[in-house]
Amino acid sequence: MSGTSLDGVDAVLVDLGENIELLNSVHHPLKANLRNALLLLNTPGNNELDRSAQAAIQLSQSYAEAVYQLLKPFPSIAPAAIGCHGQTVRHRPEFGYTIQLSNPALLAELTSISVVADFRSRDIAAGGQGAPLVPAFHAALFRHPSIHRVIVNIGGISNLTDLPTSGNIKGFDCGPGNVLLDSWIGAIEGKLYDDDGQWGQKGKLIPELLERLLAEPYFSAPPPKSTGRDLFNLAWLHTFRPHDHRPEDVQATLVELTARGIADAIATYCRGAQEIYLCGGGARNGALANRLKALLPNTAWRLTDDLGLPTDCVEACAFAWLAQQTLVKKAGNLPDVTGAKGSRILGAIYPA
Ligand SMILES: Nc1ncnc2c1ncn2[C@@H]1O[C@H](COP(=O)(O)OP(=O)(O)OP(=O)(O)O)[C@@H](O)[C@H]1O
Ligand SMILES: [Mg+2]
Repeated sequence: MSGTSLDGVDAVLVDLGENIELLNSVHHPLKANLRNALLLLNTPGNNELDRSAQAAIQLSQSYAEAVYQLLKPFPSIAPAAIGCHGQTVRHRPEFGYTIQLSNPALLAELTSISVVADFRSRDIAAGGQGAPLVPAFHAALFRHPSIHRVIVNIGGISNLTDLPTSGNIKGFDCGPGNVLLDSWIGAIEGKLYDDDGQWGQKGKLIPELLERLLAEPYFSAPPPKSTGRDLFNLAWLHTFRPHDHRPEDVQATLVELTARGIADAIATYCRGAQEIYLCGGGARNGALANRLKALLPNTAWRLTDDLGLPTDCVEACAFAWLAQQTLVKKAGNLPDVTGAKGSRILGAIYPA
């Protein structure tokens, strides 16, 4: 898994029996030149075909390195497959496509392991958003017969899965996760992220800016919906003239925007939720977690670690699980979540 935050590759080794057993995990940071190349490919530019192909090759070499590190302590294990999400550089379901860069053929060649890739395209071909895909995995693992749970992943984009004790599972992208927080501190301080939200905590919320940011139609649009860097990026933020304010005040306001995007979505669509579990890198942002708890004080806020999966591993485990679904010819999407016409077997298999 390498998500929209572009922080690196999360690789997990999992045994998918009755329960999921996490055997090992590795975080492999992206090299700065590859990160920059991928970031540039998120917006239209020159010679995109060649740059995409070159970036996909470098990325797949990075994936292979992560797989090598992951398997090193387990020489006798021969994995059935690698579930490879790839790097999203465009997400435009409204135009019928989404692009997750990778070179699965090269990854299969470098690792001698079968690769399942391109999970999202089939759902979009069936009229869906192609996202989020993790709700089926969250449901399989975390649904409880008598406790209404919500799983919130704070990656570059934030997404939730509503797991009521009975009835339909809901899931959608709430809005920005870490993407605006990372982009703003990156632009002002040259840092990759705001550790524990400390810089933002030095600032003061700007209510008038918050109101204008929250007026973005994505927040009030009903699900099914999904988003990405295509919408929430530095150029979008610049349209609100953030340089008219103290930069740490803007960061404090972006923390509140991110928290409101998530909390308002839970309040509107997950009525009666008893337990909310956070995962993804944003769960490490204490300032953001505190604002979430303050906005919804009557619900228990926990980390997925309490359900047996570390916050940093949930998304990667989901794509291992989705790869298995593909291999055993079972559907990976939830049509209620993505808006697709029906259940579909996702992905393409590149045999070892
Ligand atoms: N200590 C920390 N304090 C604040 N933010 C953190 C910390 N550690 C990680 N993060 C945030 O988490 C991000 C990485 O999270 P994660 O890997 O879940 O996102 P992602 O790669 O976009 O994943 P996905 O798209 O699969 O959800 C970092 O870019 C950073 O913003
Ligand atoms: Mg990541």
